[in-house]
Amino acid sequence: MCGIVGYVGQKQALEIIVAGLRRMEYRGYDSAGVAVVADGKLEVRKKAGKLVNLETLLGADPLPNSTTGIGHTRWATHGGPTDRNAHPHVSSDDRIAVIHNGIIENFQSLRAELESSGVILESETDTEVVAHLISKALPSVDHDLPRAMQAVCSRLEGAFTLVVVDSEQPDLVVGARRNSPLVVGLGTDGNFLASDVAAFVDHTRNAMELGQDQIVILRADSVVVTDFSGNVEQAKPFTIDWDASAAEKGGFDLFMQKEISEQPKAVADSLLGRIDESHRIKLDEFNLEPAIIRDLKKVIVVACGTAAHAGMVAKYAIEHWTHLPVDVELASEFRYRDPIVGPDSLVIAISQSGETMDTLMALRHAKEQGARTLAICNTVGSTIPRESDAVIYTYAGPEIAVASTKAFLTQITATYLVGLFLAQTRGTMFEDEIRSVLAELNDMPSQVDLVLDTTEPVQKLARKLASARSVLFLGRHVGYPVALEGALKLKELAYMHAEGFPAGELKHGPIALIEPGIPVVVIVPSPSGRAVLHDKMISNIQEVRARGAQVIAIAEEGDESIVPFADHIIRIPAVPTLMQPLVAVVPLQVFALEMARERGHDVDQPRNLAKSVTVE
Ligand code: F6R
Repeated sequence: MCGIVGYVGQKQALEIIVAGLRRMEYRGYDSAGVAVVADGKLEVRKKAGKLVNLETLLGADPLPNSTTGIGHTRWATHGGPTDRNAHPHVSSDDRIAVIHNGIIENFQSLRAELESSGVILESETDTEVVAHLISKALPSVDHDLPRAMQAVCSRLEGAFTLVVVDSEQPDLVVGARRNSPLVVGLGTDGNFLASDVAAFVDHTRNAMELGQDQIVILRADSVVVTDFSGNVEQAKPFTIDWDASAAEKGGFDLFMQKEISEQPKAVADSLLGRIDESHRIKLDEFNLEPAIIRDLKKVIVVACGTAAHAGMVAKYAIEHWTHLPVDVELASEFRYRDPIVGPDSLVIAISQSGETMDTLMALRHAKEQGARTLAICNTVGSTIPRESDAVIYTYAGPEIAVASTKAFLTQITATYLVGLFLAQTRGTMFEDEIRSVLAELNDMPSQVDLVLDTTEPVQKLARKLASARSVLFLGRHVGYPVALEGALKLKELAYMHAEGFPAGELKHGPIALIEPGIPVVVIVPSPSGRAVLHDKMISNIQEVRARGAQVIAIAEEGDESIVPFADHIIRIPAVPTLMQPLVAVVPLQVFALEMARERGHDVDQPRNLAKSVTVE
């Protein structure tokens, strides 16, 4: 949510910043802006709308050469998406330019204080107060920008990443973070600050994590990190394990298409190195003592959106394998009731970005209650893994499209590994049982490949149904979270009413939604896995068909019993029940993508959304 980039070095800052913003536009696209320091002056350009509007403005009104600058792409919180509210914001004396991600909760009192001292604020944002506060603080700290930043940050409440430049200190970019992402890139021709390593991976793969409440002082040849009181602190270096090409479209029209196509590799990479020669699971990163694992009484998954759906799938597997109860909690709700969580609970926070504020807050709440915490995360160095006792990274590579796809498959894969590891440690499964599930998991990349080879009929069907008013999705057992995920994809991409239901629940109310012609997508359980579920699903299909629905069955190869009951059948490979989500969700992703395209929407950057939701 909001993308931030800063650079100071020997190269032209503007090129680096605009390229970085392009890579981070998925974080917000309500407006974009840049500021550079040139000839002792700040030069700012900003524009509402997508980055391309800013680029047009820069073409018409170019910036002077400069080797120091900052840039921002916005997801609006305070104040609408207008030119005036776009970042950077500048102090009244034109000395300080600031960009911000997060929400400054006490901005109203700070704004009132500034106004009563005569400052005229130009925008409706919470951010602008920071520019004025820093400029006012400078004289009392010998015009030392890092000290002014420290002083101001100590007064701010809420979540923020701030990056500032000062027209009078052209060799300097200063950043600060609290509860909001910021990473440092260490280059040979200069240094970088960004919300996400994608912004600078073209220039360097050497990066540094920043901790909570830290200030970073960036010069062309040095990086110093302090706390908000000015004490020097250490930051943890890391190497980015993917290159710039991974964050590009690589010949596809859309990031989402590319990311859907990468799913077999993403699953394979997430399994890599986690099974030893004797077919036992080794999760070196899951460093909880075996005795603690054996004493666990429950597992709680906290996550949001697609990641929560992955957690819901995992519940079926982990309960089955470990006999531990598993609760799956929407992170945004978790800490606002009194969840039963303590030292004998394992709380698993699933997050692609590792920065989702709701999930982070749920994790912190669980830690306060003494729970053991494990992050399942795709972004190295992000906050959620850093604050967890242990982390299992998924190796999906960068996910740029706002709608999550490959992250979902790898989250399921990782939670399955965790479930099997718990079972292995607690002795709730025989070794040969674990081995056979692992063999099934290892087979999934090729099964997902098979699904990807046969998406043409799904695309055709999506185009045909693109004018539908509403689409319902039905599932049972692990098919239920898949139904939820199919509906979520359609809502966020096609802006269409879509709901996912457990098929058995339909008759308790939602069946009233069925009207003639409504498309109902049914994730049909395998007839050979849990035959009883399959039979029940056939009954549920008959219930909706009797009321005029057109049924689109996602059914496994060879399931002929479905033929008389479906208007359209989309085939998926026959796989064991617990593996079915990994193949069944893929046609739903393709369906939503194609419907969105047919309806003329921006697939990679759907309206009102942003990736990495860093506000509560
Ligand atoms: C949906 C989607 C969101 C995210 C959710 C959690 O396509 O992308 O629902 O899954 O915002 O994000 P992370 O996994 O980054 O915590």
